Amino acid sequence: MIDLTQTEYRQRRERLMEKIGNGTAIFRSAPHAVMHNDVEYVYRQDSDFFYLTGFNEPEAVAVLAPHHAEHRFILFVQPKDPEKETWTGYRWGVEGVKEYFGADEAYPIHELDEKLPQYLEKADRIFYHLGRDRKFNDIILSHWQRLIAGYPKRGTAPIAIEDTNFILHPMRLVKSPTELEMIRQATAISATAHNRAREFAKVGKYEYQIQAEIEHTFRIEGGIGPAYPSIVASGKNACILHYIENNCQLQDNDLLLIDAGCSYGYYNGDITRTFPVNGKFTPEQKIIYELVLDAQLKAIEAVQPGQPYNCFHDTAVRVLVEGLMDLGLLVGDIEEIIKEEKYKPFYMHRTGHWLGLDVHDAGGYKCNEETWQTLQAGHVLTVEPGMYISPDIKPVEGQPEVPERWRGIGIRIEDDVLVTPTGHEVLTSATPKSVAEMEY
Ligand code: GLY
Ligand code: MN
Ligand code: MN
Repeated sequence: MIDLTQTEYRQRRERLMEKIGNGTAIFRSAPHAVMHNDVEYVYRQDSDFFYLTGFNEPEAVAVLAPHHAEHRFILFVQPKDPEKETWTGYRWGVEGVKEYFGADEAYPIHELDEKLPQYLEKADRIFYHLGRDRKFNDIILSHWQRLIAGYPKRGTAPIAIEDTNFILHPMRLVKSPTELEMIRQATAISATAHNRAREFAKVGKYEYQIQAEIEHTFRIEGGIGPAYPSIVASGKNACILHYIENNCQLQDNDLLLIDAGCSYGYYNGDITRTFPVNGKFTPEQKIIYELVLDAQLKAIEAVQPGQPYNCFHDTAVRVLVEGLMDLGLLVGDIEEIIKEEKYKPFYMHRTGHWLGLDVHDAGGYKCNEETWQTLQAGHVLTVEPGMYISPDIKPVEGQPEVPERWRGIGIRIEDDVLVTPTGHEVLTSATPKSVAEMEY
């Protein structure tokens, strides 16, 4: 099992503390998610919290106070409780997190209100991301309010709250060697699962059976499970971008679109492949497939350090639009079609996203209104153009009706790509995608 060391978590905290100067940063663990009644989903720590601590218990708060005389890293955690631990599992407890997770000080979570002010009162700013839990936001805001009220007498108080996203997410965007090892493992397992699924998928099988084959592979290969609900979409279901019902039977002449990725540790893979269930593309399917593949290969080529983030999306769009124009499915001036997004009935999503601790990973795509983020070594992203000609596709005004023979074809091809110092590396190349390899 590959894993990050406590040293790496500590180094991340140090880097963050350098950035916050005399401020205090507060991070909250993820809440429990209820499956039904009193049953909860398997707990998954908040990615920011995990990035800085490696600690995966709920009901926790991490505080970074670089200016504090004694304690720079403080954890509030669930205290040890043998009876509760019998039911819900091991807790590190207050002493445990000091020893193992390197906290300078730790307290039971119910002491938060009492103990937090000492870490805030000398801070010049509070760094905190307003989360979905309004009650917890209120706790932080009311501490701030009290400190501000005491400012005239004390002469110190945090004068502003800043969102932690703006300092932490740029850090998360560039992956370390160990993070890359984790991502490589997640993508390798994801690729193996896709290869097995393609062998397994035959006319007459149900989408959920293919899903089971994939998710079985995720787990048996040491992954945690799916990184997101697996999409197994046959025929026209593939025109629904996030189709997850997975309950239809595979028909002769169907394409099957599988968008599935595995979590390994806290890192994720995200792969899409589309192939003919009976081993042979129909002529129309083959034309669209080759177009999407061409767009994807050229988009991947565009992924280079120093290039703006949107370069590979723009490349993919241009290839797709040219192809649609060659087929007579779009008409007019290519620049106008692209500028006015007249291709959107066929291709309505962007060509990729950052990938890491979150499948749609943290980190901005733009630096300001005009400028895109610049790709740099250590960035990991997906490249996933597609074409979705839904049975009831409605072209934009002035564009031709789509002939029946193209309708119901949905194709996406998605790989995970690492930006390297000299170019890029496709992390998911172990799962094939050429026409010849998708046919048998
Ligand atoms: N599976 C979600 C995505 O590709 O973004
Ligand atoms: Mn994706
Ligand atoms: Mn995907």
